[in-house]
Amino acid sequence: MASDLLDRVRLGGTVPSHVAVIMDGNGRWARERGLPRHLGHREGMKSVREVVEGAVEAGVDILTLFAFSTENWKRPAQEVSALMGLLQLYARKERTELRRQGVEVHVLGDLERVDESTRSAVLEIVEGTRGGESLRLNLMISYGGREEILRVARTLADRVQAGHLDPDDIDNTMVEDLLFTRGLPSPDLLIRTSGEHRISNFMLWQLAYTELHISPVFWPDFHREHLFEAVLDFQRRERRFGRVGAGIEAS
Ligand code: FPP
Repeated sequence: MASDLLDRVRLGGTVPSHVAVIMDGNGRWARERGLPRHLGHREGMKSVREVVEGAVEAGVDILTLFAFSTENWKRPAQEVSALMGLLQLYARKERTELRRQGVEVHVLGDLERVDESTRSAVLEIVEGTRGGESLRLNLMISYGGREEILRVARTLADRVQAGHLDPDDIDNTMVEDLLFTRGLPSPDLLIRTSGEHRISNFMLWQLAYTELHISPVFWPDFHREHLFEAVLDFQRRERRFGRVGAGIEAS
């Protein structure tokens, strides 16, 4: 099943270079089974492994996963610490395998808010996978799209105030160079699981022309075949970036 879909992806045309994912539905997956929420997150970690492998197989260059948002800090302390524990577990358990697969991990977000042991675990996986060439995996941790734009605004305001920058010279490139994602292309495809049609403060600047794919599946049930289906859906889209479509004459 997954291999048939992968064959279709390979024949289907352009594979999105950058895929971003809002991994939603862990809590509902657990509730449906009468389990505590943290077991939904734990099961979700297996889907992370699946989707990373699937992205490598499909030839995706960059995979960006929304692992923990600035809003997630407001969840009960027990759940926050379970999520931090899982990030540590992931970083320690997967490092060797990710390196073997050629996955280079990056961590983007406000890491100053993250506790010391989680921070050192994720920085170790960044260090230990450096140089991987098959996939760049961005783990967005303590990340919020508005907070990211506010940081840029403050930096630019400081430069103007110091007399180093003329406001008229502020352009897209200058802003992009100050985002956590500096140097990376914007996502071509955003996948959100669990059927919700929301962006939820994720990559607000970068998603301007990204194709959206909403999957009804809860994240712990999301496997590589669902990723391949999302890519096939992307391959059927016509991306116009605000222009008219191919073959339509300007009048
Ligand atoms: C949203 O589900 C998911 C999260 C807040 C956390 C995502 C974390 C993981 C998948 C596990 C660890 C991640 C990595 C990268 C190892 P929800 O809790 O909002 O679900 P609900 O909407 O059904 O309540």
